[in-house]
Amino acid sequence: MKIGVIGLGYVGLPVAVAFAKKFDGTIGFDVNVSRVEELKNGFDSCREVSEAALQQSNLFITSELKDLSNVDFFIVAVPTPVDENHTPDLTPLQAASVTVGKVLKKGAIVVYESTVYPGVTEDFCGPILERTSGLTCGEDFTLGYSPERINPGDTEHTLENIVKVVSGQDDECLKTIAETYSTIIKAGVHKAPSIRVAEAAKVIENTQRDLNIALMNELSLIFDMMGIRTKDVLAAASTKWNFLKFFPGLVGGHCIGVDPYYLTTAAERLGYHPEVILAGRRINDSMGRYVAQRAMKIMVKKEIPVSQAQVGVFGITFKENIPDTRNSRVPDIVHELADFGCSPLVFDPHANPKEIEEEYKISLSPLDSTGMLDVVILAVAHDALIGDKGEFLSKYLKPDGILIDVKSVFHPSELQPEQTYWSL
Ligand SMILES: NC(=O)c1ccc[n+]([C@@H]2O[C@H](COP(=O)([O-])OP(=O)(O)OC[C@H]3O[C@@H](n4cnc5c(N)ncnc54)[C@H](O)[C@@H]3O)[C@@H](O)[C@H]2O)c1
Repeated sequence: MKIGVIGLGYVGLPVAVAFAKKFDGTIGFDVNVSRVEELKNGFDSCREVSEAALQQSNLFITSELKDLSNVDFFIVAVPTPVDENHTPDLTPLQAASVTVGKVLKKGAIVVYESTVYPGVTEDFCGPILERTSGLTCGEDFTLGYSPERINPGDTEHTLENIVKVVSGQDDECLKTIAETYSTIIKAGVHKAPSIRVAEAAKVIENTQRDLNIALMNELSLIFDMMGIRTKDVLAAASTKWNFLKFFPGLVGGHCIGVDPYYLTTAAERLGYHPEVILAGRRINDSMGRYVAQRAMKIMVKKEIPVSQAQVGVFGITFKENIPDTRNSRVPDIVHELADFGCSPLVFDPHANPKEIEEEYKISLSPLDSTGMLDVVILAVAHDALIGDKGEFLSKYLKPDGILIDVKSVFHPSELQPEQTYWSL
């Protein structure tokens, strides 16, 4: 069997490299020519596959359609973003389906891994494959769906170590899909009874996480008014056996802040207006501005003029120790501060300055240009920043400065008496 993976990003590349170990002639296809070039040179800017693993891999990497002509088993892992109105943008899925349709041959299986709402694989992608190939879905070729659960930067929950949900259009193709994925997934596969069930399972995994974090964020707003430290409350509550361990924070990235909209849009099209899910989204999307406003309130109380304060925002990626800045909520902090006349310096050892400039109109500063700051906003606690916590504070925070510790990495007792501590 010849496997072809369409879209070589955070999800597609590890899948393609894993299959290339088991199936000769596995092909990785991406429309982004510069991405293809970097991968061919043995470098993965997503840092999901090491240089050594990429160089040793037999994966054939290409952006040429003709190289896909003999593929029997397609895996599609292209982005599924939302537009500015939070409506699912299926354009990349459409384009990838057209690509596959052009080279689709009888007997092939097309498995989608992109996160979608129930029905997209069969009602949206299937017909595009049919129209482009002239073949009949369910007869000449079959569909499958297998959601991805990787967690970028997490070396424990890797592709091979997480149970993979698989589904197929009929029993025969499900059997092939399950057997094929079983060759690379040590943790085993779970056969969902239908493609729609598998699609729904993925989208609710991230919706549940989004809502749990939203609850923690709302609790942190309440405890802030009460003058109680949320981290202390959670430490106490977590001693109960069934208290779930979630923490307040900025919810960004490509998945958790986006996927719930796939579900809510699909629900709205059916006439149901989700309340709980969208309330969670609103709270999580408002946290960046809230952090900035709290920082400025403390500045005013300490008689530090907001427009002249030396403020540093540390970390702009959507989470720790990775270069991914998609849908990061840290720019909300920076823009809110700027709206009040404050010009913070922004530092990040992992983010690509060009991408940040283009996407968020924010210029990153080199870390060695900081000096001592009135306000340190530790937004993303990269190990490279706070490997040595004591050094971090003594290097960047003035003896009477303010530490805005978004993720509660420090304990207030770690600060000097004249310094002020605040966290979510
Ligand atoms: N990143 C994650 O942690 C994660 C985890 C689980 C699921 N997902 C889901 O997996 C899907 C892919 O996410 P990702 O993070 O890998 O995205 P990504 O942006 O890192 O990678 C997608 C790749 O697809 C390529 N691409 C776009 N359109 C294409 C086309 N028409 N043909 C071929 N290649 C094309 C892009 O150039 C890019 O290299 C999304 O639906 C996402 O929600 C992501």
